[in-house]
Amino acid sequence: MIKPRVLVTRRWPEAVEAQLMAQYDAVLNEKDRPLSEADFRDALGRFDAVLPTVTDKLSPAVFETKSPRTKILANYGVGYSHIHEPSAKQLGLTVTNTPDVLSECTADLAMMMLLMVARRAIDGDREVREQHWDGWRPTHLVGTKVSGKTLGIIGYGRIGQEMAKRAHHGFGMDIAVYNRSPIAPEVLAQNNATQVATVDDLLPRCDFVSLHCPGGAANRHLINAHRLNLMKPDAFLINTARGEVIDEQALAQALWFETIGGAALDVFDGEPRVNPDLLKCSNLVMMPHLGSATREAREAMGFRVLDNLSDFFDGRPPRDQVI
Ligand code: DGY
Repeated sequence: MIKPRVLVTRRWPEAVEAQLMAQYDAVLNEKDRPLSEADFRDALGRFDAVLPTVTDKLSPAVFETKSPRTKILANYGVGYSHIHEPSAKQLGLTVTNTPDVLSECTADLAMMMLLMVARRAIDGDREVREQHWDGWRPTHLVGTKVSGKTLGIIGYGRIGQEMAKRAHHGFGMDIAVYNRSPIAPEVLAQNNATQVATVDDLLPRCDFVSLHCPGGAANRHLINAHRLNLMKPDAFLINTARGEVIDEQALAQALWFETIGGAALDVFDGEPRVNPDLLKCSNLVMMPHLGSATREAREAMGFRVLDNLSDFFDGRPPRDQVI
């Protein structure tokens, strides 16, 4: 039997690549360099399945081909706003993602970043490392208490709920939620959460705000200058969702003029480029998109792609079909 021809656009964990090679006529990206638009367009004509990641910006130009061989884009990752949905639909492509398997690790990282910015972890580490620490004193690197405070969560899907679980059951935080659609009362009750009607209602009541909504055009600059102004002057903003959800220029201003307490960002608009104005802000923790970066999650994401491919090529609806 002829095996489907599959293109993997980045290096994946070894165990998953081995399985892909066993099951498919798979081409790996040995050099691990992101594909160009032209490479991608070319791939659509030569492979049955293409397996992209967040670093593949699949704009309308990429889909400008009349008769693609590709039938499925099996994305490695839960977010898929890097794939231009109308173009994929127009070509009749199936698109899948990898939900569930990274929710815990992404929420762990969000909680870690919340704690880091509130307790000034970066300042402390730097001081010790650079040998500037001259001893304990009552006024030294004083941060903000986390336990018992109010956490606002924007986007109460799987990752948002995992974040709420950690914050509420681990740190006794009160949870307020904004979500586009209503959340079932029993789901809110698991973390004693309250759903509010609008983002504007949520922001003024929170000591911490954590973003867990999808990226893409619909949520671009959801957090803008107006909304940053609605936050308490000592509140912190955490983003492990997508960079474009925040107007970074407005955030840099808010941090610079200390109209909010601080921020922690794992994702950036146009990453890996980082807005130079953000780099000048001291009350900001930054990570290079590490939300799902654990051995366990990254392998599970790969195996979830394999599950979706098996579904598709065996003629079943893929379990994680998003388009
Ligand atoms: C995800 O799964 O969406 C991660 O951010 C990597 O793309």
